[in-house]
Amino acid sequence: MNTERSSSTDHTLIIDGAAAAANVIESIKETVRSERLRPGLAVILVGKDPASGVYVRSKKRRAEECGFLSRQYDLPEETTEVELLALVRELNQDPDIHGILVQLPLPPQINPHSVIEEIVPGKDVDGFHYSNAGRLGTGDIGQAIVPCTPLGCLHLLKQVLGDGIRGKHAVVIGRSNIVGKPMANLLMHNDCTVTIVHSRTVEPQNICRQADIVVAAVGIPRLVKADWIKRGAVAIDVGINRVTKPNGETGLVGDIDYENVFPLVSAITPVPGGVGPMTIAMLMLNTLNAASRSSLSPADAQ
Ligand code: GUN
Repeated sequence: MNTERSSSTDHTLIIDGAAAAANVIESIKETVRSERLRPGLAVILVGKDPASGVYVRSKKRRAEECGFLSRQYDLPEETTEVELLALVRELNQDPDIHGILVQLPLPPQINPHSVIEEIVPGKDVDGFHYSNAGRLGTGDIGQAIVPCTPLGCLHLLKQVLGDGIRGKHAVVIGRSNIVGKPMANLLMHNDCTVTIVHSRTVEPQNICRQADIVVAAVGIPRLVKADWIKRGAVAIDVGINRVTKPNGETGLVGDIDYENVFPLVSAITPVPGGVGPMTIAMLMLNTLNAASRSSLSPADAQ
């Protein structure tokens, strides 16, 4: 459920991503039970990056909670590209596995593009393979696996705006393959007018101030200040940045300066508890859909 808090100038909706994600997870569990499915998710972690370790463990836990077969592969930092490609090929052939996720970033000796392109598109539950990216980019959404974070952001935006999303000016801050580019495509597919701003954009705040929807995905703590925001905009914060607070404690903040932006916007996602839980829920949904498709037509999974 969304909570609301009155502010000095307006009434701002705090978009509860944890609650939205819990609803998605419940419906996935129900489908798994009623259709007697056993979706299989394989998550591969190379090296010991602590943040990646946290993400991978929560993906595994959530998959188990959904009733999936959940396998985690922890490979050493020195793993070669040849070794990783061999594991991906093995999982491509494994009939119990419907989704393969290789956690990024990878160590420098491994080319992430080569690894992503080795995953069969039907098992690419991250939606990063150029086949899935191309389908999204060309509007063939029904056949595409769409990246989890943009899909989660869209879900939250539709929860707030419904059909009112059409015709809105959306500004996406960041041009990554994981979030920025697929987010822009997804918003265009939903009839938004889309602008992407990035690290080389001149005066991004002037562009952002025109936005009805702001999606911030750059990984710079509190980059988006109040003077970047048009009154009444909807703000979606993808950033999860660990910072040290003035009192010496560490905590998580987003890419949006939440406290100062809050009074201006009509709705905003908090960090934590906004986009983060939705990303994992969408990964479960992509895996469930991959399993359903392969049970209908196993050849399509290849
Ligand atoms: N690293 C950060 N976000 C992601 C993601 O969504 N998928 C994968 N595979 N790695 C990531």
